[in-house]
Amino acid sequence: MTDDGRRTIGVAVLGMGNVGAEVVRILQQNSSDLEARVGAALEIRGVAVRDLGKARSWCSPSLLTDDAASLVTREDVDIVVELIGGIDLPRELIGSALQHGKSVVTANKALLADYTGELATIAADAHVDLYFEASVAGAIPVVRPLMQSLAGDTVQRVAGIVNGTTNFILSAMAENGDDYASTLAEAGRLGYAEADPTADVEGYDAAAKAAILASIAFHSRVTASDVYREGISTITTDDHESAATLDCTIKLLSICERIDDSAGRQRISARVYPALVPNNHPLASVSGAFNAVVVEAENAGRLMFYGQGAGGSPTASAVMGDLVMAARNKVHGGRGPLESTYASLPIAPIGDVYTRYYVSMKVADRPGVLSAVAGEFSARRISIATVRQAGAGDDARLIVVTHRAPDSALSETVDALKGLESVLSVSSVLRLEGTDA
Ligand code: NDP
Ligand code: HSE
Repeated sequence: MTDDGRRTIGVAVLGMGNVGAEVVRILQQNSSDLEARVGAALEIRGVAVRDLGKARSWCSPSLLTDDAASLVTREDVDIVVELIGGIDLPRELIGSALQHGKSVVTANKALLADYTGELATIAADAHVDLYFEASVAGAIPVVRPLMQSLAGDTVQRVAGIVNGTTNFILSAMAENGDDYASTLAEAGRLGYAEADPTADVEGYDAAAKAAILASIAFHSRVTASDVYREGISTITTDDHESAATLDCTIKLLSICERIDDSAGRQRISARVYPALVPNNHPLASVSGAFNAVVVEAENAGRLMFYGQGAGGSPTASAVMGDLVMAARNKVHGGRGPLESTYASLPIAPIGDVYTRYYVSMKVADRPGVLSAVAGEFSARRISIATVRQAGAGDDARLIVVTHRAPDSALSETVDALKGLESVLSVSSVLRLEGTDA
């Protein structure tokens, strides 16, 4: 209760970095509106940080603590908002908070990708909520639509761009010719990149989000290690130029879909890789740190979600939505949705996935090379859609685009191409998504 007898909900915020600082700001700046929406005042009981000496806006020094473990079990805390990042410490803190009857809101995809099952079970046993809208695609509501709005439909596919940092880098390279390293540094300065940006550029962050999306879309437990992953650190200026000549752009895609095995049994394919996307496809125009997720469901058809996928205040918006939901449940009773994993679908290996490919190779510039290269594709029943030679003499490159084929056949073909005397190197292999051919 406040001094004048109004009901309060005690909130502990763990972490006051890019996202936590914005959550604290919104809690202070919008307190009266939030109180009206919740039916109780949201009062910050404490903010856990690592460095008590740092200057902080919007936060009285008396609220700061470096003892997160004690904060999450305090009697006067009803909801814990975890925005520290990493795995071991947040796993302990969230587990402890839930066991002590606190609802939890987190943006931590790395943790959720592997431990949603464990944490959701503790939350269910303790009759409290675990909300995580901000863990996928920043400000964009996609977790709640999948878990609640589409709970009565059958989702077939969830695919899109779910990492803002890599989209920021790829867009800057393609649109302005900017270099990789300085654009990555800029993404860090703008608060898009993870504490260790390897998670972004090598696709781990997108893979964690794919695991979360696949789990909730297909009612199965999918973890990060179930997701096939490639990053963007090997994408070159040549690749961007070749993409442009094919009227395509390169995007880091996360794709989660149901695919059948040879006996018609359903499996889940979850994968993250850079791919060529035709410029007339809606995902091609998603630029900078924006994200977009396309959901295909049996009855709803195709739905597209678009917005800011990273950054402090966009992400804080999603955190605040969850916080208001958790607070309303504390005030009025009721619970958020429980984890649903009844379908337990198996995971399909990447080799079974059908898609199109772009293969760029440095070749000797002489007669017969094209037929040797084409022969390796044809030997594995991969149909070629287009072949283009770029450069000449020492700079000769062949760029092959295929029709749809299994990934296993393409991998074998690439190995065989590397063994050809006339192929000096295979410089790039990328999938081509967003076309039916
Ligand atoms: P930051 O690195 O900016 O902030 C981390 C915060 O955690 C800092 O305030 C830091 O304290 C605090 N912290 C670190 N260790 C401890 C500790 N042992 N005890 C208490 N506090 C600690 O991270 P972000 O805000 O960018 O990200 C937070 C979470 O949100 C991550 O899980 C991230 O993946 C996720 N996320 C981030 C998005 C983004 O765009 N940035 C978008 C979506 C999700 P101090 O300030 O003293 O250093
Ligand atoms: N590092 C992440 C990204 C933050 O760039 O998308 C949002 O989850």
